[in-house]
Formats: sequence, structure tokens, C-alpha cells
Amino acid sequence: MKIADYKATLSFSNGQPGIEMPVYKGSIGPDVIDIRKLYGQTGMFTYDPGFLSTASCQSAITYIDGDKGELLYRGHPIEQLATQCDFLETCHLLLYGELPNAQKKTEFTSLVTNHTMVHEQMQFFLRGFRRDAHPMAVLTGLIGGLSAFYHDSTDINNAAHREIAAIRLIAKLPTLVAMAFKYSIGQPFMYPKNDLNYAGNFLRMMFGNPCEEYKVNPVLERALDRIFILHADHEQNASTSTVRLCGSSGTNPFAAIAAGVACLWGPAHGGANEACLNMLEDIQKMGGVAKVGEFMSQVKDKNSNVKLMGFGHRVYKNYDPRAKLMQETCNEVLLELGLENDPLFKLAKALEKIALEDDYFVSRKLYPNVDFYSGIVQRAIGIPVNLFTGIFALARTVGWIAQLNEMIGDPEYKIGRPRQLFTGAERREVLALNKR
Ligand code: ACO
Repeated sequence: MKIADYKATLSFSNGQPGIEMPVYKGSIGPDVIDIRKLYGQTGMFTYDPGFLSTASCQSAITYIDGDKGELLYRGHPIEQLATQCDFLETCHLLLYGELPNAQKKTEFTSLVTNHTMVHEQMQFFLRGFRRDAHPMAVLTGLIGGLSAFYHDSTDINNAAHREIAAIRLIAKLPTLVAMAFKYSIGQPFMYPKNDLNYAGNFLRMMFGNPCEEYKVNPVLERALDRIFILHADHEQNASTSTVRLCGSSGTNPFAAIAAGVACLWGPAHGGANEACLNMLEDIQKMGGVAKVGEFMSQVKDKNSNVKLMGFGHRVYKNYDPRAKLMQETCNEVLLELGLENDPLFKLAKALEKIALEDDYFVSRKLYPNVDFYSGIVQRAIGIPVNLFTGIFALARTVGWIAQLNEMIGDPEYKIGRPRQLFTGAERREVLALNKR
């Protein structure tokens, strides 16, 4: 049990005696009031829909300062990781707490690389889906299905099982995402090629075919690797909290990660990059940059239900640091592919400029988030729009696993079980059918 740094007093206006509660300081960030004994001492719950003021766990993995626009993985700024490290180094950092030295990097890379193939039977499972199935539906099924293929790594309470499940998930996600894509377009699956790096191997499995040699473009490889790094973890967001809650029942790691994938699918979360690109395409069809003003009026109209996708964030009330890095990558990729005059990129820039100057967005502290540019980069690389969230899931898998493993190792963890403020009917009797 933690020792309180100081105390908070809760008093009531109805004459009920007040209580003292411990307050803890984190290494950085807001202090937290420990309310675990609140119900026992007062018979009351707290009410916090959407967990706006609730810390659900203690964590040493990722820190976000939403006001500053700062993101740290294990203390390292995202800007340094994105420019000085690759994705597998970042995975090592998130999973084990430290960046690997040269020897550990080689060992970790070889460990992950040795698990890139999936069980051959997996393709028959995949073939049960319609060809036009949404890739997130396919991925939720395939990832949940991994637990049926790897019985030796399903005990979440066994550290060795958790370790091998972690490596399997990180290694196999690119293979599964690429298989889902190949299936949707009717091309043969490409087996992984282990002399390529993580991102290069994924590009080849996505865009290569058995008839020709595939040459990995280093600019695209680096762009994809950066997308993976930027999406690798983001503390207790909706999908990560889902993974933790799901895992808290003791379910196997594959099932918990499948739950995270399902949560990520939503347009307010991981589905935002798909929604953002669809939005840009819709505006383009309406008339492009000339229609930006009209579109913005709809966004600001409370009755329209139209949102500027890729803008706003629950935690960032400043520019999302990942969005800056993604914008840089976007420029590099478009230049490499000769798409500098891409109309959607121009449109995105026009929207961003207006939004950053408009009082509606400024007063609400709505800035571009990572999804605003990641869709354009992925589209330029050749990734279909409905696979964007699948790429996000691939990258976030390491964060989900690191968070899940941290939870299992925390002596204070309990099965998640929120309470409620009940507003329904009080006890009443069931009437006979002819009397209702
Ligand atoms: N466009 C227009 N208005 C917006 C937007 C937006 N994108 N985002 C927030 N607002 C407005 C809200 O209408 C609200 O206005 P009000 O105070 O007049 O009622 C105000 O800004 C505050 O918004 P909330 O919804 O309370 O903010 P919250 O923190 O709950 O929501 C969210 C954050 C869900 C991300 C929201 O900004 C949004 O829907 N953005 C678009 C979707 C998106 O890009 N999601 C990606 C998130 S990042 C990620 O998952 C990688």
C-alpha cells in the first residue's frame, strides 16, 4: 500500500461527518486522491462518466502533458524516439522499461522476427470471412482466434506465457493485417521475409506478390516505422482501458488485445483517421478548398452534428506532438512519390490554417491530432482507407501488452468493476399478462 504524501478532507453539507483521504504524488503530473475506502466509510460512490477525473491505475509507461503537448514513453520524448529510434527499439522500451543496447536490440529483433509467421490453419479461418468484410471485423476475429492456436501462451498469470504472447502478438500483427488486405483484393498471401526489417517486411507482405521481387522504398519504410512509433502507446485511452478491464478478469492476452482492437475501431478513437480521410474526400467532392468555409460553418453549427475529424483530443489541449511529426512525414512521403500537389493534402492544410485561427477552435483548445495527417500518409503509401485503423491496431498492440503486463504485475490490481448512480424504477411487481 502506498504512503500518503498528504491528506484531503471531504465534508458534507447534510451533517454527515467528513472523512480524510490520502493523496499521492506521481513522479510528474497531477496528484491523485485515493478514494478506495470512500464507499466503506460513507456508503457513497463517486460519479465520473467518461473517467474525466479518475485515475484507474498507477502506471510507469507513458506520460502525457496535454496542456504542453508533451508525450513521453518511459520518460523519453516522442520527438527523440521518432527521429533516433526504430519501432522495435520502441517496443523494447515500452515492454521492458529501457531502450535496448546494440546487443539487446539484435536479440530482441531476432526474437520478434522468428515469430512473424502465423499458423498455416489461420488462413482457413480468414477465408471464412466475406471478401468485403471490414478489416477491423476480420482483425478482431483473427486476433481473438490466436488464443485457439497458441495454447502454450494463454495463462495471463504466468510470466512466461505473457512474454511469449507479447512477442507473438507484436510479430504476427503485420502478417495478419497484410493477410486481411490480400484476402480483400483476392491476391495470394505473402509469407514474411525475415531479412527485412519490421516495417519493410510489412510493406512487402502488403504490396509484394509471388511473381516479382519487391524492392522496399526506404522513405516509405521509414514513414511507416514512424507511424508505428507514434501510435505505440498513449496511456489510459479508451482501448487501453478496455484491454486492462478485459484482462482484469484473467482472460488470455489474445482475447484482451482483441477487445482493444474492437474498441479502437470506433470513429471517436482509432477510427478517426479513416473518418478524417473520408471527410477530406467528401469536401473534395463538394468542390475542395473553395468549400472549406461552408464546411467550417457546418462544423460550428451545434445542430449539424458535423465534426472536424482529426481535430480535438480528450487530453491534448495543445498541438498533439505526434501531429507535428506526422505532418513532417507527410511532406517527405508526398515529395518522394511526386504527390506534392496532392489535393487532399492541400485541403487538409487549408482546413488546419482556418481552424487554428478560428475562435470556435481556439477557445475550445481544439488542435490537430495525429490522425489529421496519418490518413494522407497511409493513402499515399497505398494503404486502403478501411485498413487505417488496422495499422493503428498493429502499432498499438505493444502498448496494450505493456499496459496489460504492468497491470498483472501490480499487487494492487483488482478485477475492474465500476459502480453506478441508479436512476431506474424501484422494486415493483410483475403483473399478469392480461393486467399490463
Ligand atoms: N470538431 C468540432 N467541434 C469539436 C471537435 C471537433 N473535432 N472536438 C470537440 N469539439 C467541441 C465539442 O462540440 C465541444 O463543444 P461545446 O463545448 O460547445 O459543447 C467542445 O469542443 C469540447 O468537446 P468534447 O466532446 O467535450 O471533448 P472530448 O474531450 O470529450 O472529446 C474527442 C474529444 C472525442 C477526440 C473530440 O474532440 C472528437 O470527436 N474529435 C474528432 C474525432 C477525432 O479526431 N478523434 C481522434 C482522437 S485521437 C485518437 O484516438 C488517436
